[in-house]
Amino acid sequence: MNYRHAFHAGNHADILKHAALAAALAIQIKKPKPIVVLDAFAGAGRYDLGLDERAARTGEWRGGVERLWERREQAPAALTPFLDALDMENPDGALRYYPGSPALAQHFLRVGDHLRLVEKHPEEAALLAHAMGRDGRVKVFEEDGWTALRAQLPPTPRRGLVLIDPPFEAQGEFQRMTASLKEGLKRWATGVFMLWSPIVDRALNRAYREQAAVVAGETPCLAIELSPRREGAGGLIGSTLLCLNPPYGFAEACEQFGPFLAETLSDDGAAGWSAMWLVEPK
Ligand SMILES: C[S@@+](CC[C@H](N)C(=O)[O-])C[C@H]1O[C@@H](n2cnc3c(N)ncnc32)[C@H](O)[C@@H]1O
Repeated sequence: MNYRHAFHAGNHADILKHAALAAALAIQIKKPKPIVVLDAFAGAGRYDLGLDERAARTGEWRGGVERLWERREQAPAALTPFLDALDMENPDGALRYYPGSPALAQHFLRVGDHLRLVEKHPEEAALLAHAMGRDGRVKVFEEDGWTALRAQLPPTPRRGLVLIDPPFEAQGEFQRMTASLKEGLKRWATGVFMLWSPIVDRALNRAYREQAAVVAGETPCLAIELSPRREGAGGLIGSTLLCLNPPYGFAEACEQFGPFLAETLSDDGAAGWSAMWLVEPK
């Protein structure tokens, strides 16, 4: 377990994932019923872009959140939930703190909602617990995320969202994703599931999407993709987020913010964006 998210916090892949997560949560909390959010690979929770030398070393956030921050006045309404959270993280108007999925989700919690955060790395789990502060709605588990996805589903109450965002440093992670999705849907057929994956090799990605569509069966499944870097540029070209059982209005929100993110985060005007139903809602 060498992966540390601080090297990558706020990069283009985080922006796609977190803009979508914020949009989905903003829709879910419009209804009065409480929600449960399970983040099975939570990371450190919040990142200090100004002081963390790992963030400075890669500078990935400069091609991500910094570009978005500079254009936030022009952003479409669908990005408001995410941008409001970014504003709350940086109340003096200078970009310094970047909320990981835990800090982001925490912004949307109401009284009665629950946030369950799973992180296996002891140092990251300690940072995470510190970042969350004393909040009775939030629980941190220092354990294995794959196991938690079995043990903690279905949640009570049965309304909410699961984020599956592993580091993709081990072989077979794509297969693990679809296997845990299969099991997750069996345990909680009505849950909203979000699965992040990197685009490094297009053929591998296509095969994964086909497999995910098979596993989804009749469950609506939307795939959104943002690729700010040209194929052959090396490293992470872009990323995919699968969303199963997306809440009503989520696909429209993605259609609204996707082209803006592509334009804002593109390295050379070559950004690719798509939103595609792998399984259409009935
Ligand atoms: C991509 S990062 C998570 C980023 C976070 N979801 C966010 O959006 O801010 C993946 C995290 O999973 C953790 N991790 C790796 N293997 C794990 C496992 N088996 N169970 C739980 N966490 C794991 C890593 O330590 C890392 O912090």
